[in-house]
Amino acid sequence: MPSRRTLLIGGAAVALAAGGAALALRPRAPVQRPPGVPVGPFGAKSTAADVTAGLDLSGHHYLVTGANSGLGLETARVLALRGAAVIATGRSVDKVAEALRGLPGRFLPVALELTDFDAVRRCADEVAAAAPRLDGLVCNAGIMELPRLEQVRGLEKQFVTNHLGHFVLVNRLLGRVLAAPQGRVVVVSSNSWRRAPPAGIEFDNLSGARGYDPAQAYGQSKLANGLFVRELARRLAPTAATANVVRPGVVLTNLGRHQPLKEFTGRLVGWTFMKSIPAGAATQVYVATHPSLARVSGQFFADCNPELMTGPMADDGLAARLWSVSTEITAPWLT
Ligand SMILES: NC(=O)c1ccc[n+]([C@@H]2O[C@H](COP(=O)([O-])OP(=O)(O)OC[C@H]3O[C@@H](n4cnc5c(N)ncnc54)[C@H](OP(=O)(O)O)[C@@H]3O)[C@@H](O)[C@H]2O)c1
Repeated sequence: MPSRRTLLIGGAAVALAAGGAALALRPRAPVQRPPGVPVGPFGAKSTAADVTAGLDLSGHHYLVTGANSGLGLETARVLALRGAAVIATGRSVDKVAEALRGLPGRFLPVALELTDFDAVRRCADEVAAAAPRLDGLVCNAGIMELPRLEQVRGLEKQFVTNHLGHFVLVNRLLGRVLAAPQGRVVVVSSNSWRRAPPAGIEFDNLSGARGYDPAQAYGQSKLANGLFVRELARRLAPTAATANVVRPGVVLTNLGRHQPLKEFTGRLVGWTFMKSIPAGAATQVYVATHPSLARVSGQFFADCNPELMTGPMADDGLAARLWSVSTEITAPWLT
């Protein structure tokens, strides 16, 4: 006879699954496209291999963070398959080397711990020494919805991992991005940016101490990803380099590790409404490589196509303020 606990978990899983299915079946409002940005032939079902079919990336150098798991691993795999030299980061060299073992192509595994800015600096120095140029820097690593408040240097951990660590990494490597004929920064955000606090970024609560909600804190960090790209694209405008932000869709990876019930449900019934990992990685690979996007910067992509940014995601003032606060916090690691 099933225990009360099993019944409760089963009931909750069914409810979550029904919610997921309802979401999948709900007619979506038509996507609004930003004017002047090319709409390509790919969509939600396209895979990273599909969007790079026929591309020869030999001679190109890419950096992918979080390359030992999920979307990062697939991104690294496909870039290398197309001939690129891929610098693949994991929290330890062994971890990422193990994940890449046996994959065809040229990889350099490098250690990157995003919550430790000294380690981010070491990683950037190692990458700069190894790659004369970066044709693409894919900021993919991330964590989601830590159940209880965790802090790093007194700041909420998702904000540090998902935004500030990448802020330091990208700024330290901009010289290498600019050294490529057309370098691209691609930052992986999420639709969860819509769950950010009403203020967008709570600059007076970056510690999370005044109040912490796991989903809202994740949302804030993913909004920060988009605002970072907005300001970066503005700064890169006089150059050939570009910066864009993507949302991959809902994909069954290890991202749910901090939310066991969602993780369990995903493993059970995710196939009914979630994307595969190859399809989830397609948008970031497309934006990092496709020739049609050489002049596209400061845009938001989903399902391999541009979407109009709205609300706080499109707030230039908020983007400028986030840049300035992030610079202030990480100043010792930027120079
Ligand atoms: N999966 C989805 O449905 C979904 C939806 C929207 C957005 N996204 C975004 O997609 C990106 C990739 O996520 P995923 O789904 O592929 O999840 P995943 O399988 O959990 O991969 C996340 C990667 O980030 C790394 N990472 C976590 N904390 C880190 C830290 N402190 N320093 C360095 N690396 C760290 C992980 O390393 P370890 O393995 O060592 O922890 C792992 O390599 C994330 O930015 C996520 O927010 C995913």
